[in-house]
Amino acid sequence: MTQWTPASWRNKPAKQLPSYDHAPNLMDIEAELSHLPPLVFAGEARALKSQLADSCMGNAFVLQGGDCAESFSEFSANKIRDTFRALLQMAVVMTFAGSIPVIKMGRMAGQFAKPRSEDMEVRGDVALPSYRGDIVNGFEFDAQSRTPEPTRMLKAYHQSAATLNLLRAFASGGYADLHAVSKWNLEFIAESPQTERYKKLCERIEQALDFMTACGFTKDTVPHVLRQTEFYTCHEALLLPYEQALTRQDSLTGDWYDCSAHFLWVGARTNQNDHAQIEFVRGIQNPLGLKCPPNLEADQLIRIIDTLNPKNEAGRLTLITRMGAGNVFATLPKLLERVQKEGRVVTWVCDPMHGNTQKSSTGYKTRRFDDILSEVRDFFAVHRELGTHPGGLHIEMTGQNVTECTGGISDVTDEDLSARYHTACDPRLNASQALELAFLVADELKTLRKDKKTLLNLAA
Ligand code: PEP
Ligand code: CO
Repeated sequence: MTQWTPASWRNKPAKQLPSYDHAPNLMDIEAELSHLPPLVFAGEARALKSQLADSCMGNAFVLQGGDCAESFSEFSANKIRDTFRALLQMAVVMTFAGSIPVIKMGRMAGQFAKPRSEDMEVRGDVALPSYRGDIVNGFEFDAQSRTPEPTRMLKAYHQSAATLNLLRAFASGGYADLHAVSKWNLEFIAESPQTERYKKLCERIEQALDFMTACGFTKDTVPHVLRQTEFYTCHEALLLPYEQALTRQDSLTGDWYDCSAHFLWVGARTNQNDHAQIEFVRGIQNPLGLKCPPNLEADQLIRIIDTLNPKNEAGRLTLITRMGAGNVFATLPKLLERVQKEGRVVTWVCDPMHGNTQKSSTGYKTRRFDDILSEVRDFFAVHRELGTHPGGLHIEMTGQNVTECTGGISDVTDEDLSARYHTACDPRLNASQALELAFLVADELKTLRKDKKTLLNLAA
């Protein structure tokens, strides 16, 4: 293999990169970005990697969630707070039921660039470059807005910095205090069996906290546990000029880290082993993800693992499977079996969104909540059957009351989709649907915990 440098991806074929041919300012913008402060610190990425090592062994569960694409127009403190809160609520539900730490990562503070199936979008007799996320070009269908513009990378950087700043404040400043969990109201979730369930769960958490206080574990004695939480960021490593500009050599270890986020993943459309995105991420020491679509062959997967995790380091690689409901039993076992047989240490995460996108009868890109639940259930079932660890969940969601996916307790119909369809790209779960999904995962985790206990008792 040739020598890696932050720029060595430039010698490889690349898919899904915009053409900046007409943009004379590209190099200046890249230079400017490369002098701006890193968004995350290498030590944080290392801490995340060591937590992910636990998830490989079934001793932690990963929760990744947020927008399909962040946007410049939908940027506000309330939106960030609501997504953070929804993720934390999900995590609390899962932690409590599964008695397992949940590693929380927002698809936030950098999730801007999008791969597209077509380079051009055609409307009538007009063909323009496809929208590739606000970091590349504009959503509006006109020639000026669709032209890729490098200065957008600077705007995305600054928005990411502001987002991350608020997330860090929420995570460490007291907002995530476990004592406050039950006070996080779910304004728009009408009284439903699910709100009831959440309230009951909060009562039980309060009892547990009272018990811990009596034993001497309080906010003051263990503030890092009860008052604060760890919250990481992740996004797709797609727009390589941006990622390269934020890649820095860690002064402590001499290793390279992409300091645009703690965790970077390679998408399903750019997973070619000899192409630019894989070349770029192989040299950075952040924990990595790889999306695994249904057509990924086991041989191909092993070759990519060889490239991305040659030392078989636990926590380095997370495989995010997105097979589609009804397709999990036909596609996932052969990957699990092969990876297991070769002794490769990875975390398996389920993305039940990207294999389940369809068009509604009313013309919207949507996903059926039942399909999402079904893929998650089958993911757990296959892992149980093969004795591997179901290590996490990766979803597109928002804390707001959008109508983008159909079904769920509030029963969003095809006709309802137009009411609050705000996504800049793929349809997201709203807060209520996200919480409902968390309860399903919690039930699965509870079963897993019981199975584990039974095994331990049998062994004793
Ligand atoms: C995404 O996560 O938004 C995405 C494009 O996913 P995938 O690469 O799995 O299609
Ligand atoms: Co998406």
